[in-house]
Amino acid sequence: MGRLDGRVALITGCRRGFGKAMAELFASEGAAVSICDIVPLEELRRDVGAKIEAKRGKVLCSQTDVSDEAQVNSMVESTIDEFGTIDILVNNVGIGGPTKKTWELTLPEWNRTMEVNLGGTFLCTKAVVPEMIRKNYGRIINFSSTIVKSPYPYRTPYATTKMGIIGFTRILALEVGRHNITANAICPGNPGGERNVEVLRDLAAYLGEPFDSDAARERFVEMRERGVLGGKYLVGEGYVEALISHMDVAQMALFLASDEAGSITGQDINVSAGASIW
Ligand SMILES: NC(=O)c1ccc[n+]([C@@H]2O[C@H](COP(=O)([O-])OP(=O)(O)OC[C@H]3O[C@@H](n4cnc5c(N)ncnc54)[C@H](O)[C@@H]3O)[C@@H](O)[C@H]2O)c1
Repeated sequence: MGRLDGRVALITGCRRGFGKAMAELFASEGAAVSICDIVPLEELRRDVGAKIEAKRGKVLCSQTDVSDEAQVNSMVESTIDEFGTIDILVNNVGIGGPTKKTWELTLPEWNRTMEVNLGGTFLCTKAVVPEMIRKNYGRIINFSSTIVKSPYPYRTPYATTKMGIIGFTRILALEVGRHNITANAICPGNPGGERNVEVLRDLAAYLGEPFDSDAARERFVEMRERGVLGGKYLVGEGYVEALISHMDVAQMALFLASDEAGSITGQDINVSAGASIW
């Protein structure tokens, strides 16, 4: 018996990172998963879809840009055609956006981050909620970030969208609650993945400092080995922050997607090893 037996989950941004971990975990718990990414379809099929199928999971892959309404609607229609319904929506896609001081940003840079991170979450939610209302059941999981609680500079577009996701989630929860649908946000901490290497690389480039990707990866390995829960608050005592894993976040998403989480809604939940404690 899987915890999501008989359920259908639509998860965005699954080529790597949290989306990949959630796709694999949800499928292993019995859900049929419809997964998308903006990368070429063959990559998503090869790196994620084929692995799920090899374990006898049910998976539908699509190349979808979540900021494009026609593509989102087509993905939702194909999912319902293939699996009959959608019970769970995970709005995972989020780009890091530009690394700059606010007054150096261009309007197109600002707008693209809004279109993908907020627009994509809005479009997927708009397309899926009518099906959830029809069946009087649904679980919506949005992706915020601990950046809005433990901020760092040069990323106002990203942080604006991630704070926006919390506001979106709270109001949405009030609107869909009467239809037995929950809406929650997860705020991940640092998993030390490729995306985090890219963020550090962009910061170094912006500051005109040298950057070594392999050294950054090694530093993450060291953090994983030496990190302690809440280490961020203990640096004066020689501790380093503990990294989370992609699977830590996937496990939280699994719980929020399950029947057992039916009374939890409108929340923003940190999975950060104590790097954010509110
Ligand atoms: N990694 C972190 O440190 C971190 C921390 C806090 C929050 N988050 C959030 O968690 C979510 C996932 O992060 P991740 O680390 O797994 O990211 P990631 O960059 O590793 O993966 C995101 C995936 O989304 C895809 N994607 C990008 N734009 C897209 C679009 N327009 N349409 C469809 N797919 C698109 C990418 O190709 C990629 O495969 C994001 O919302 C991110 O903001 C990440």
